[in-house]
Amino acid sequence: MPTPIRTADPTYIVGRNLSKVFQLGDQQVQALDRVNIQIPRGQFAAIMGASGSGKSTLLYVLTGLDRPSGGEIIISGKPVDRIGGEALARFRREMIGFVFQSFNLIGTLTALENVALPGIFNNMPRLERETRAAKLLTFLGMGDRLNNRPNQLSGGQQQRVAIARALFNNPPIVVADEPTGALDSRTGTLVMELLRQLCSKNGKTIVVVTHDEGVAKYADRMIRLKDGRIIGDEHLGLAQPAEETLTDGL
Ligand SMILES: Nc1ncnc2c1ncn2[C@@H]1O[C@H](COP(=O)(O)OP(=O)(O)O)[C@@H](O)[C@H]1O
Ligand SMILES: [Mg+2]
Repeated sequence: MPTPIRTADPTYIVGRNLSKVFQLGDQQVQALDRVNIQIPRGQFAAIMGASGSGKSTLLYVLTGLDRPSGGEIIISGKPVDRIGGEALARFRREMIGFVFQSFNLIGTLTALENVALPGIFNNMPRLERETRAAKLLTFLGMGDRLNNRPNQLSGGQQQRVAIARALFNNPPIVVADEPTGALDSRTGTLVMELLRQLCSKNGKTIVVVTHDEGVAKYADRMIRLKDGRIIGDEHLGLAQPAEETLTDGL
C-alpha cells in the first residue's frame, strides 16, 4: 500500500485576515474584506458567489498570483505573502497547478507540447517531458489527440489539455477559476468529475471557483462570497478520505 499523502495537520492552505483593495482611478474597490479561510489537505473546496464578489481575487491572492493589501497566507507551512520573485515562482510551480476558464493554451503548440511546457522551465530533457506529457494526456482520455493544436480540439478537450498541463509537475494543489465557464453542461460535468477524481483518487487538494450550483455534487465544501466577504461555508459531507494515492506521479 502506498502511503497516503494526508497528514494529521488539518490545515494546508490558510488565509488570515485577507484584504485586497484595487485602486480604480480615484475610486477604491475593496475586492476582499478581511477574509479568513482554511482548507485542509485533500479537500475539494468550491468558492461560489455572484460576478464581482471577489472569487478570482481570493483564488489569486491565496495562491500567490496576486498580492494581498493586508493579511497573511500560509500554504503547507510556507508564508506565501512573505516570499517573492523566483522563490515564489518556484513554490507555485512545484505546489500548485492552475486551470483557467479560457484554457490559456498556446495556439501554435500541439496538445503534447502545451502539456510538456512546464518541463522546459525545469530543464527536463525533451524525451522525458514529452513522455510524461503523453502519459498525462492519455490518463485524461486524450491519447489520440497528442499532435492536435488547440483550434483542432473542442472546448472540453482543450480544458483537459490545460488540466494535464496543470498536473505536469505533480502539484499537491490544483486550483481552477471557472473551469467549466466556457463549456457546455455535459462537458463541464466531465471536467468536474475529473477534478473530483484527482481529489479522491490522487489525493490532490482542489479549490474551484464557480458560479455553477451543480458543483455541489462534486465538492466537499462550498464557500460563499459576497462583496469580498465570506457569507457561507457549508460542508457537504461527501469527503471520502483518499484510501490510496497513485504511485505513478500523476
Ligand atoms: N485588476 C483589477 N483592478 C481593479 N478592480 C479589480 C481588478 N480585479 C478585480 N477588480 C474588482 O474587484 C472586485 C472583485 O473582482 P473578482 O475577484 O474578479 O470577482 P469575481 O471573480 O467574483 O467575479 C470587482 O469589483 C472587480 O471589479
Ligand atoms: Mg472571476
